[in-house]
Amino acid sequence: MDELRTKYLGEIAGAADEVALERLRVAALGKKGEVSLRMRELGGMTPAERQVAGPALNALKDEINGAIAAKKAALEDASLDARLKEEWLDVTLPARQRARGSVHPVSQVTEEVTAVLADMGFAVAEGPQIESDWYNFDALNIPHHHPARTEMDTFYMAQAEGDNRSPHVLRTHTSPVQIRAMQERGSPLRVICPGRVYRADYDQTHTPMFHQVEGLAIDRDISMANLKWVLEEFFSAFFGTTVRTRFRASHFPFTEPSAEVDIQCSWEGGTVKVGEGEGWLEVLGSGMVHPKVLEAGGIDSSKWQGFAFGIGIDRLAMLKYGIPDLRAFFDSDLRWLRHYGFAPLDVPTLHGGLQ
Ligand code: DAH
Repeated sequence: MDELRTKYLGEIAGAADEVALERLRVAALGKKGEVSLRMRELGGMTPAERQVAGPALNALKDEINGAIAAKKAALEDASLDARLKEEWLDVTLPARQRARGSVHPVSQVTEEVTAVLADMGFAVAEGPQIESDWYNFDALNIPHHHPARTEMDTFYMAQAEGDNRSPHVLRTHTSPVQIRAMQERGSPLRVICPGRVYRADYDQTHTPMFHQVEGLAIDRDISMANLKWVLEEFFSAFFGTTVRTRFRASHFPFTEPSAEVDIQCSWEGGTVKVGEGEGWLEVLGSGMVHPKVLEAGGIDSSKWQGFAFGIGIDRLAMLKYGIPDLRAFFDSDLRWLRHYGFAPLDVPTLHGGLQ
């Protein structure tokens, strides 16, 4: 028994891993293990012999089990130590740089405009950027011979020979969304339609793609006075200062009467400041919706009337944030975006003072 004891305790102490330990356990205490076989021999012994050999064998069995458990714990400790050493991590190292985007001024201003007008009860409506020439022109009372319809100004979609569907264009303004909103929602109606528009134009103040927001309010007794109030409220909230407006008679096919609207500004020191001074800056077109336009939208023009306006969003962004060149808006220059961009979590709200 001493021999067995020395042999197994020695081998357990030298075992390299858990597999070796398990093999030793089976060799000693498994069904056919050396210690187990000895225990089976107890049956053939005299009671006196058994009284000595029994407890001794049991003690040996316990000792081997104990040694295996202790060795197993020691092996686990050692492997944990090794892992800790290997997977050591310096949490005081600076973090890796992660690129962080910014919100483009056009997106920011679109949100700001929407926040102000939504507060006045205007819902946001959208329409397709590829629009039929009926929605883009005819429904808006723009005649066939109108200069805006020439290929000089408008991007027409290619059309196959023999395709007699009505031609499609990249919408040249957000006004066609007026028609869609009237058709879909009926009257009374109060919507704004922000979005991209396209014209064949490129210089310091024009890009082939730019952004507009359309406003449309229809009810039984809407007048130009409501339009003026809405616009003055809008500009004052948007620029964060009282802004006066000036209406000048103008002409648009889709409104009658029509007005171009200027906002008060000063030109002192070579920069434009909105809401002060004696100067004026043209910012939008507007008017009372033409009866033919109401009818095209499925609205009875003998019962309903309304105003509409259209503003350039990019232009508003340039004015509010002092951005000089329109073309830079769409160059995707990272330095420009970092400089003029907005923090992603700065969502414009009225209670936050917009910006
Ligand atoms: N659609 C016009 C443009 O793109 C702007 C405009 C003028 C919109 C008068 C209107 C409006 O709703 O009433 O130049």
